[in-house]
Amino acid sequence: MTYLDTAAQFYGEVAQTPQIGLCCVQSSPLQLPGLTIPLQMQEMNYGCGTTVHPAELVNNPTVLYVGVGGGLEALQFAYFSRRPGAVIAIDPVPEMREAAARNLEIAAQENSWFDPSFVEIRSGDAFKLPVNDDSVDVVAQNCLFNIFEPEDLSHALHEAYRVLKPGGRLQMSDPIATRPIPEHLQQDERLRAMCLSGALTYDDYVHRVISAGFGQVEIRTRRPYRLLDSQTYNLPEPLLLESLDSVSFKVIIPEDGACIFTGKTAIYAGSEEYFDDEVGHILQKGIPAAVCDKTAGKLAKLVPENIMITDSTWHYTGGGCC
Ligand SMILES: C[S@@+](CC[C@H](N)C(=O)[O-])C[C@H]1O[C@@H](n2cnc3c(N)ncnc32)[C@H](O)[C@@H]1O
Repeated sequence: MTYLDTAAQFYGEVAQTPQIGLCCVQSSPLQLPGLTIPLQMQEMNYGCGTTVHPAELVNNPTVLYVGVGGGLEALQFAYFSRRPGAVIAIDPVPEMREAAARNLEIAAQENSWFDPSFVEIRSGDAFKLPVNDDSVDVVAQNCLFNIFEPEDLSHALHEAYRVLKPGGRLQMSDPIATRPIPEHLQQDERLRAMCLSGALTYDDYVHRVISAGFGQVEIRTRRPYRLLDSQTYNLPEPLLLESLDSVSFKVIIPEDGACIFTGKTAIYAGSEEYFDDEVGHILQKGIPAAVCDKTAGKLAKLVPENIMITDSTWHYTGGGCC
């Protein structure tokens, strides 16, 4: 039996007997006008953040949702597309697919705008997505990829890249670790399945996303998720896990490296009206311009006395330049 079998068994169990608070953070699921989330779905909220970013869901996107869980985010995505098959939700665990289908039927009773045909539930897994190359606008996964061992994570990221249309978005939420998780915890298959011991550090995680081909990564949110205490987890000191919400774009990686936006800004404070670095970045005096980490680093070296670079806010929602 592999760790993936252990995970499938675990999710079979929690599909039949919901484990309230298994992965979720201390915030209620995203509420939207006219959306009622059935109680059964809320009890099966096994996501650690959110992958549903309303501002990006214009033009009725086709969404491939990987690891359907109780169907909560599939319902939230369907809210924006409202057409049959707009959301394709996959899961290898039959009990989970059945639970999601049941919950979506209840959602249809509680939401007059929703029809269960808006979400097509299919059997499938993250390593062999049951859709064609370049066929979907959004791939989303919440609290699933962190349970994969690093090489499997890379495999799943390449699969997501394959099925996205050019310019498409990979919207993810996963725990990350503030320092590498020791081997004895990584080897604990049950803890891994519970999203507590498979997390990579921020740098490792983002590196794997870029290595799969994504040319732009935007960090939407980074916040404390769980503390692994010394006694329970046999650690020399407590280990903080964070949850990271990100959106990665299937765009070509620039020659000088991918653009990673973490909320940094550059502000020109020199004697001119504006500063032009002559490679596409114009900074108006005194006005913060959102920049990616790569550009922030270059600008800081170029004229350190006249350009202030603000810290990562870990909350970036668009705009600015690479
Ligand atoms: C932590 S739960 C998250 C569920 C859902 N995303 C949510 O936010 O509530 C992980 C989900 O991934 C499914 N899963 C497990 N292994 C998978 C795989 N190899 N490929 C796709 N889904 C998988 C599980 O059955 C479960 O539904």
